Amino acid sequence: MKNLKGRNVLLTGAGSGIGRLMAHYVADEGANTAIIDIQAEALAKTAKEVRLRKVKVKEYVCDISDCVSVGDVVARIKQDFGQIDVLINNAGTVIGKSFFDLTLEEMQRTMNINYWGHIYLTKAVIGDMVARNDGAIVNVASSSGLIGMPILSDYAASKFAEVGFSESLRRELKKFNYTGVTVTCVCPYIIDTGLFKGFKPMAMSPFIKPEVAARAIVEGLKKGKPYVMLPPLSIYSSLMLKLLPTPLFDWILKMSGAEKAMDCFEGRKSC
Ligand SMILES: NC(=O)c1ccc[n+]([C@@H]2O[C@H](COP(=O)([O-])OP(=O)(O)OC[C@H]3O[C@@H](n4cnc5c(N)ncnc54)[C@H](O)[C@@H]3O)[C@@H](O)[C@H]2O)c1
Repeated sequence: MKNLKGRNVLLTGAGSGIGRLMAHYVADEGANTAIIDIQAEALAKTAKEVRLRKVKVKEYVCDISDCVSVGDVVARIKQDFGQIDVLINNAGTVIGKSFFDLTLEEMQRTMNINYWGHIYLTKAVIGDMVARNDGAIVNVASSSGLIGMPILSDYAASKFAEVGFSESLRRELKKFNYTGVTVTCVCPYIIDTGLFKGFKPMAMSPFIKPEVAARAIVEGLKKGKPYVMLPPLSIYSSLMLKLLPTPLFDWILKMSGAEKAMDCFEGRKSC
């Protein structure tokens, strides 16, 4: 989807971080946006900012982990916008506790937001996209969806699921010749939004600026890229290292500080 002008974009998690920035950037491209978040006040702030451009923007407060609410909200968005051309599944959460301390409810909530929420939304929009053989889906996963790390077991599980889902869906669309519908899977390392406050990045892999990440995602969407790895060099080299014998790869991760990265994690206390 080279040109977003006049297209209708549904973007989740637009109340904060890279979601808020992407709302700005797609509006800069002339797209109309339906923005979703669970936090009403933060979402209203994004809507107010984006409305300054001459594009249509409407906000919808919704908990994406609630399947029924997602169905209702997508029906409202279709009424308000006509059709949805682009879905950006961005909303996400992280708890940052050891597996031994996580409750089952906490683990289920992570999965319900980071994985199931994205599935509910994709299910609700993909039928129309394949009928038109036109559309784009962007799933914001994580480098934690490629390599598992301590204190992130629930988060990594949800993001591995997201990566597997994105890859399978992309190949399935190709198999059935729906080549006009693209799927982009985004795997960032650490972005300086506050979601991972207290995280200590590995040597040679500093925090990514939110603006850089948001721009790269919008560019990836426009090019229909299967993957947006951020930063590409560090993610692809980690994937190459994964081919090494596991004890050696574990040792390299330990030496680079990955094992202790979550030791002082604070995250977003409010989420
Ligand atoms: N920040 C990072 O270091 C990082 C790294 C890799 C991947 N990611 C992923 O990028 C995405 C965006 O992260 P961010 O850093 O901008 O985080 P953020 O906390 O700034 O923004 C996430 C937004 O999602 C919303 N949200 C959370 N649960 C929701 C729910 N149930 N329903 C609707 N909205 C909900 C929040 O209210 C918030 O506005 C997430 O999926 C995250 O996992 C972030």
